[in-house]
Amino acid sequence: MSERRFPENFVWGAATAAYQIEGAARDDGRGDSIWDTFSRTPGKVFAGHTGDVACDHYHRYADDVALMAELGLAAYRFSVAWPRIRPDGTGPVNPRGLDFYDRLTDALLDRGIDPIITLYHWDLPQTLQDRGGWTSRETAEHFADYALAVHARLGDRVHTWTTLNEPWCSAYLGYGNGVHAPGEQDAGSAFRAVHHLLLGHGLAARALRAAGARTIGITLNPADVAPADPGSAADAAAVRLVDGLQNRIFLDPLTGAGYPADVLEHVARMVEPTFVREGDEKVIAAPLDLLGINYYSPTYVAGRPDGAGSSAYPGTEGAVEFLPAAGPVTEMGWQIEPAGLTRLLERIATDYPGLPLMITENGGAFPDDTRLPDGDGRIDDADRIAYLDGHLRAAHEAISRGVDLRGYLVWSLLDNFEWAEGYRKRFGIVHVDYLDQRRTPKSSARWYQEVISRNGL
Ligand code: NOJ
Repeated sequence: MSERRFPENFVWGAATAAYQIEGAARDDGRGDSIWDTFSRTPGKVFAGHTGDVACDHYHRYADDVALMAELGLAAYRFSVAWPRIRPDGTGPVNPRGLDFYDRLTDALLDRGIDPIITLYHWDLPQTLQDRGGWTSRETAEHFADYALAVHARLGDRVHTWTTLNEPWCSAYLGYGNGVHAPGEQDAGSAFRAVHHLLLGHGLAARALRAAGARTIGITLNPADVAPADPGSAADAAAVRLVDGLQNRIFLDPLTGAGYPADVLEHVARMVEPTFVREGDEKVIAAPLDLLGINYYSPTYVAGRPDGAGSSAYPGTEGAVEFLPAAGPVTEMGWQIEPAGLTRLLERIATDYPGLPLMITENGGAFPDDTRLPDGDGRIDDADRIAYLDGHLRAAHEAISRGVDLRGYLVWSLLDNFEWAEGYRKRFGIVHVDYLDQRRTPKSSARWYQEVISRNGL
């Protein structure tokens, strides 16, 4: 295939999240998060897996950073665990929790790797959940306080701050269908959570800006939503509904347009949105320097006027059918369609112009647990290489069509705790043996190393 070179200064990196890799769930004064509670509740996570030990990154971070340097990463996106910093969600800061991120940051900078911080990757302190979690407005305020506490310690060295990771998941999976922590199932709660997450983002962004943070962003998982039948009016209406609940409900208020009227109308059918107070939309529209995009697969929907649809979106029960994947899928069952990434990036660049974009996650789970290292210690994940290659070509295509894409972070550096799926799904370019914590770079890691060194394919 033909060569593809990326722009100079294009940022190549990898991403992880605290609860998925750190382990050390009780070390140095860490409090419980909603994921500790959820994963310890029988039946919530595959085979009762928890993040108690995970990849033990908390103790092995120095070796992991050495590995990142070996691969040539220019940036590393990690999340800070709120319950390490404020074990009770509010109240005194726990310096030992901050010490860990301080050590990690220094280790990265020593190796010339730029730290990209995510302040919230789903591990809400349990004490805050006991007071309503994201359904409560207070949580948004506590989030901004916590963000400032992290910035006070790391702001002299960390320049890129992203507030939330995929608030869609926190709200809809956490409070809507209950597949994620805290496991609530209530459409009204899901929309309350959306709003308070966005408000928390806005308050934190404003506070971080005032404290001198240079680059402030948020990571979303917007979807490239397409109709099953482009000629069907019912399918077009389904696209509009899902696009509203997945994309515009976040992107419009974040970029200053406020909540879209059609979305508010939909929400009002389930809950009177009195939780949206005067002035909130202005807070949410705090200036953004970067929008992080996580993309894995496309979404095809059909309208189901008969009410027999499969939709899991709050309030759309039965009205929308999410089509089963057509063509090749990853081990998650997610359709592999790189062109969906090009379409998504172009759509965002067109509808929300002027926002620098970064792919903060992209990658695939493949059955690496059935592949043990061969005689040379290699794990041959040709399927993952093909996935990454296809998506990088798609990203390159978007750039050549004028999208301001600044970087690409692969999900994930390490195999890790895949939420409700536990450890059975492996996304890493580096294999983790959970029995002895041995790391083995897969062929995809070596391939990625080459891509980085050539700045292209
Ligand atoms: C998005 C989430 O941010 C991450 O935590 C998760 O592991 C990946 N998607 C794969 O599902």
